[in-house]
Amino acid sequence: MRIMTDQAQNLRTLMQLNNSSTRVITVASGKGGVGKSSLALNLGIALSRQGKRPLIIDTDFGFSNIDVMLGVHPQHDLLDVIEGRCTVREAIETGLAGVQFISGGSGVYELLRMPSSQLIEVIDHLAKLEDVADTIIFDTGAGLSEHAVWLNRAAHETILVITPEPTSMVDAYALLKMLRDQGEKPHVSLVVNKVSGVREAQAVAQGFTRIAEKNLCVRIHSLGHITRDMNMSNAIRMQVPILISYPRCTAAVDICTLAQRYLGQPPRIVKRPGVTGFLEYFLARKKAVRES
Ligand SMILES: Nc1ncnc2c1ncn2[C@@H]1O[C@H](COP(=O)(O)OP(=O)(O)O)[C@@H](O)[C@H]1O
Ligand SMILES: [Mg+2]
Repeated sequence: MRIMTDQAQNLRTLMQLNNSSTRVITVASGKGGVGKSSLALNLGIALSRQGKRPLIIDTDFGFSNIDVMLGVHPQHDLLDVIEGRCTVREAIETGLAGVQFISGGSGVYELLRMPSSQLIEVIDHLAKLEDVADTIIFDTGAGLSEHAVWLNRAAHETILVITPEPTSMVDAYALLKMLRDQGEKPHVSLVVNKVSGVREAQAVAQGFTRIAEKNLCVRIHSLGHITRDMNMSNAIRMQVPILISYPRCTAAVDICTLAQRYLGQPPRIVKRPGVTGFLEYFLARKKAVRES
């Protein structure tokens, strides 16, 4: 018991030592296939062009995503970092346009199963993400798995992607409800993808936001839209992100506008800043599971 208390104290001290302001974002959706990975990747590229240092972590394990979209074959994944087989820096792949990316594997979720005795060392490793990135973008799997919901809760903000399809909106609403039910008010920005134009985007965003704000009392900030554009799938086929392969097409311009808007947001005070603040919240889940 005494040992456990000491470990908890050490963990807290370690977390307090590091007070960087790396922002942790998740790109999430209720339904799959709405464009999360495309957005995560190209948002990362747009942010790095604006002088930011983003790092994308693909946590949709079991599905090949960012690595295939970038045409890279990662040698390591986040699980290797967590289990001590490589360092954070060794796990980072640098793709086209210098975008940094780590294949998440099942790494993030394995943290929740790890004995407390190993956590301090792992967190020490992961805290090094602060040195390489000022923005961490988790590309999450679709849906309502408890782990994925918890990842979204722990992040400083969630970019929720919907499309005009009613199924995507209903599933996104269910995800928001779960986020709302599991603690503090989530900070959610909305992106409407695969729209015919700005009018459809506004109608979809307004409809969704009105219902979610009224029924769930969650404030939703509209980040923008991405037009339905064939070049999005052409880029995936070419394994060259759209911002590089078709930089002037409508969807690429939309993503750049989104990125500008994201960067133009007034800085927000977050309760648990940095990677360590994020991990502290994420790992509190572990404690909650143990105690239940
Ligand atoms: N704006 C868009 N216009 C046309 N097709 C799109 C657009 N955004 C995404 N897609 C297509 O939708 C499919 C799913 O995209 P993806 O980014 O893998 O979604 P997710 O990660 O949510 O499953 C891909 O075939 C992609 O080319
Ligand atoms: Mg995906």
